[in-house]
Amino acid sequence: MTRIRIAIDGLSASGKSTLAQGLAKALNYLYIDSGAMYRAVALFALREKLVDREGRLDEAGLVASLDRVFLTFRFNPASGRGEICLNGRNVEKEIRTHEVSRCVSLIAKVGAVRDKLVKSQQQMAAAGGVVMDGRDIGTVVLPDAEVKFFMTASAEARAGRRYAELLRRGRTVSLEDVRANLAERDHIDSTREQGPLKQAEDAVVIDNSDLSIEQQFEHMMSLVQERLNG
Ligand code: DC
Repeated sequence: MTRIRIAIDGLSASGKSTLAQGLAKALNYLYIDSGAMYRAVALFALREKLVDREGRLDEAGLVASLDRVFLTFRFNPASGRGEICLNGRNVEKEIRTHEVSRCVSLIAKVGAVRDKLVKSQQQMAAAGGVVMDGRDIGTVVLPDAEVKFFMTASAEARAGRRYAELLRRGRTVSLEDVRANLAERDHIDSTREQGPLKQAEDAVVIDNSDLSIEQQFEHMMSLVQERLNG
């Protein structure tokens, strides 16, 4: 059977990764979290002091250091998914902090960062049988993907979900901070020059403000099956 490419883009905290992982599991496809790659570069920049907490970025320094950034996904049987490694070390937990979320959009604006990551994402998807989520997957990374989704939800629903996720992980952060971070990231991600967050013309829009994960999964899976059945 043909192994297709499924692109899932959308706003921050719109539930992309949950659905992408669910689809990948059901289809026995590879799941690629492209946001984790941008987050890992942001973590590298923080560690190398190329960006500070106030959002000042040494762009030239980052570009010059990019050849020291080596990203891979390593399968973790415990989580059932590929987890991001930065220079050989699993950083899946470290990249989910609020500190990384605060600077990742600045890092993702840098053209040389996007060029490097897009190329690597295209190589990972070359054989098909992948579900990739991000912001520019259906438009730039995999413009020929066989199925494309664009996920969205109200600002309230997204902030509530991300806040609950951070609390579950034991982080202390206010709902107001989470809401402000999502709004700021969506603004930077949608207005940047290269690879902005944008709905592909042929993407199916899923507004999941009032849909359960099961309802979204059923709907998305039925569209994928239709495509697979020709
Ligand atoms: O999906 P996420 O929230 O983990 O992504 C983190 C950041 O990475 C997001 O604010 C924008 C950036 N990103 C991007 O620019 N392009 C992608 N394909 C994926 C993520």
